[in-house]
Amino acid sequence: MKHQRMWIVGLAAAAFATVQAADFVDTNQSRATPEAQGGIVDGKQKRYAGPPFGGVPNDWSEWPGYRDDKPYPAPQQATLPADLKGDADNGRKLYMSRAKAPCTGCHLIRGDDVWPAGNVSTDHQQIGDRYATPEAEAVLYQYIYDSRVINPQSFMPPWGTVGILSPQEIVDIIAFLKTQRGPLPEEKDPARNPNTRPLPENYFGDNLDPTNNAAVVLAEGAIDTWTRQGPKGKSCADCHGEIEKMQGIAAQYPKYFPLYRRVMSMEDLVAWHGADETGLELPSQGAENIHLALLIRMQSNGMPVAVDIESPEAKAAYERGKALYYQRVGQRNHACADCHDADRGGGKFLGGRLLGKKTDGMTRHFPTLRTNFAQIWDMRKRMQWCMTPLGMNYLPADAVEYAEIELYLTSFDNGKPISAPGMRH
Ligand code: HEC
Ligand code: HEC
Ligand code: HEC
Repeated sequence: MKHQRMWIVGLAAAAFATVQAADFVDTNQSRATPEAQGGIVDGKQKRYAGPPFGGVPNDWSEWPGYRDDKPYPAPQQATLPADLKGDADNGRKLYMSRAKAPCTGCHLIRGDDVWPAGNVSTDHQQIGDRYATPEAEAVLYQYIYDSRVINPQSFMPPWGTVGILSPQEIVDIIAFLKTQRGPLPEEKDPARNPNTRPLPENYFGDNLDPTNNAAVVLAEGAIDTWTRQGPKGKSCADCHGEIEKMQGIAAQYPKYFPLYRRVMSMEDLVAWHGADETGLELPSQGAENIHLALLIRMQSNGMPVAVDIESPEAKAAYERGKALYYQRVGQRNHACADCHDADRGGGKFLGGRLLGKKTDGMTRHFPTLRTNFAQIWDMRKRMQWCMTPLGMNYLPADAVEYAEIELYLTSFDNGKPISAPGMRH
């Protein structure tokens, strides 16, 4: 360990020469792959091809993101239209429609075909009893149209105000909700109900076993990148030595670098420092970048996360990351916190998915294998995906905003051991 420290000090001194040549490297111009930059082409966001991103073709430019101050529609008062008749059957279809919400993502209703329902919010199996009077229909209408009028803190998207549901569709849903009354039918399958559903074990076997987790093998292959000399005549190994020398380094990431005047994730550092020193092309979200960043991170497996949130620059970045985490964005007006804070959705079911809780730590296994897509995702891609179906175009993968959110989230993992690559379905 002592030997390693001296080595780093030596390098830092050597790096000074490089640093002085250009004492500030501007990272604003993204170095992500074209689809990871998410630019707008012909009025559409260019996203990753294939699932899952390819399944959401919509362009969300008109809705607020992290980099603009587009206004989000103010809470809108809504009056139940007297002339509309509700169709309960259609209301049930709308309630379950994936294309619309689905409402079952957060609420439970009756029926063996309701699968999977979440419990982010209230159980609606007896909502008809709770809203039984004629006046209550107007309240339901307002709730569904724009719940912020009733509760300014509400984090249910304002389905009517943003045009996801028309007045007729809301009236249909209300007709359906009125059928949800009386004693509950016996529950045949405890897993149907998110309140009695057993927690998923989330066990895919040993995530560090190369015969079990393909990401380990891919990352180990990145030793080729580590030792390959680029156009500048140097490889990572020429300056850094054996990959094992990187032990402990990744535990401090994301980390503030004066040279870039920002916090960098390991993937960011590979795309900037790694590429600049070797001349290799190592764009963010490119396979080489992710595999190499992962290989460096694996050298710290078992070591406790130790990100700095005390130094002035790191503290400022942490505070910005925290503010972004609580900022509402996109067509559905959601913040990260809505799904990952324990007093909102965190630790509950969103449909069939158990939502990770910020305070439990959500970062130590990244980059992680997504078994359902057979892809390795770093945290940026995870963040890009979390918001895409909720109606926000994503930022370039190497955006400083993501690095700052990552710093905020990683701080909850301080002291807990790294175990990368993880495996997640
Ligand atoms: C992202 C999660 C989420 C989704 C999806 C969602 N809701 Fe909600 N819903 C909430 C939350 C949170 C509340 C509590 C509102 C508050 O804070 O006052 C709520 C409250 C309600 C209420 C009134 C509260 C009560 O007494 O139960 C109704 C009615 C309702 N939702 C209907 C719907 C309908 C209809 C849909 C589908 C179009 C839907 N919800 C989809 C989160 C959600
Ligand atoms: C020409 C020499 C040189 C090459 C080539 C080079 N590096 Fe570095 N690297 C350095 C120096 C010097 C530092 C120390 C900079 C500092 O302290 O800020 C450094 C720092 C780092 C760090 C940060 C260590 C820390 O303490 O946080 C990482 C990670 C890293 N390099 C990875 C790579 C990777 C990956 C490659 C190849 C793609 C690479 N480097 C290529 C010289 C080099
Ligand atoms: C509508 C709900 C929703 C919102 C809002 C949301 N996420 Fe997620 N997030 C999910 C779901 C579902 C998963 C997959 C289940 C899980 O692991 O938590 C997930 C997973 C994650 C994970 C991986 C957890 C793990 O253990 O692998 C991270 C990290 C994460 N989200 C960060 C964010 C960040 C940062 C934001 C804001 C930019 C955000 N999420 C917004 C629903 C959401």
